[in-house]
Amino acid sequence: MSETAAIPHGLPMERDAGPFDPPRQITRLREARPVSPLVFPDGHQGWLVTGYDAVRQLLADTRFSSRQDLGIVHVPYETPGMPAATEPSPQVPGLFVAMDPPDHTRLRRKLTGAFTVRRMKQLEEHIVEITERQLDEMARLAPPVDLVKEFALPVPSLVICELLGVPYEDRENFQVNSAKFLVKDQPLDEKMAAYGAMTTYLAELVMRKRAEPGEDILSDLARHDDLTIEELTGIAFLLLLAGHETTANMLALGTFALLEHPEQLAELRAAPDLLPDAVEELMRYLSVADIFYRYATEDIELGGETIGKGSTVIVSLLAANHDPQRFDHPDTLDIHRKARGHLSFGHGIHQCLGQQLARIEMRAGFDGLLRRFPTLQLAIPADEVKLRTDMNIYGVHELPVTWTETAR
Ligand code: HEM
Repeated sequence: MSETAAIPHGLPMERDAGPFDPPRQITRLREARPVSPLVFPDGHQGWLVTGYDAVRQLLADTRFSSRQDLGIVHVPYETPGMPAATEPSPQVPGLFVAMDPPDHTRLRRKLTGAFTVRRMKQLEEHIVEITERQLDEMARLAPPVDLVKEFALPVPSLVICELLGVPYEDRENFQVNSAKFLVKDQPLDEKMAAYGAMTTYLAELVMRKRAEPGEDILSDLARHDDLTIEELTGIAFLLLLAGHETTANMLALGTFALLEHPEQLAELRAAPDLLPDAVEELMRYLSVADIFYRYATEDIELGGETIGKGSTVIVSLLAANHDPQRFDHPDTLDIHRKARGHLSFGHGIHQCLGQQLARIEMRAGFDGLLRRFPTLQLAIPADEVKLRTDMNIYGVHELPVTWTETAR
């Protein structure tokens, strides 16, 4: 490995190569040293992994603990006020994305039945209905409109609310708080306040479900006597957060990316059967859930480097998905590419539980949007679109769009 690559101080985040490409420093680092030391803002040294093979290997290796990563919310080093961790963080009940086996296994197992490919296929028709209804509403508005507000956020929120049995009327609570929660530089006390507001609400909800179960995933879980209210609340929090912010940003950023690649957009419109591959490629190309944390529980060899026991390790899924050793011309969006094998849903035991659901939502979403709005275009210059570089899930804050005609 080259020892000459400069060790970065802090995680390079600036999208200086364009809204869809990895930061230049990340690309350079991946070429020079795909498993690289990184100096964290508090001065301690950890690691940053950017090469595809190394990221995949790391995610498959449970000696890299997940108890460093409060779900998709990054604690400890990006949160001002958080002390440096010298051992795995304490577990938050129910938040199994940040647990290791056997705790992770015990909780995830209770949910696998609810998210099988078969169960999701059965839901497909209903998800299409939800999507089309939302598009009906958008079509009634006078453009320009914000696509995030009118389409990309409501569709996954409606779907996950219905699946979990969370009243959609209460979305203000979880949309506002989860957005606050995902701001990178949010001081710890504000993050905790947002977390507190969401979990207070969800604890009451799961208690009601335990008393009077209905026909939804949280009720099914509440029927398990061996899950505590704290665990049920943590699971509800994880599913709700993971279930709407990620897909919403894929729909909005994906639309932006397609509008910026008009020839591919035209092809997709002409041949909608290209959509499943296009969705995989958009997942790879955009990697909206980019940064994840792990913690080395022993000395581990990775990519020719030794990661010392106790090190914090950051993986960049975006960097891995743009690795030219795995994907030809990785910085090019190519809807004909067979992009399966991308790491955008993670890999190993924590691989995304909701991936089939997310795929169905994205296929229904892009299909409906492109069909119903054949003249869709940006309502502002592309370089004025507000990118979510300040958030833990990448995407756009708003996407003003316009059109001249709609179709059924
Ligand atoms: C885990 C991405 C949609 C629920 C993950 C992980 C990634 C990811 C990268 C792995 C985290 C890790 O290894 O630490 C995405 C993306 C989505 C999406 C990009 C949308 C395009 C969803 C949806 C749900 C969901 C719709 C709905 C329930 C979860 C859960 C986990 C997870 C529960 C934790 C799994 C575990 O720890 O065993 N997701 N996700 N995700 N995702 Fe998703």
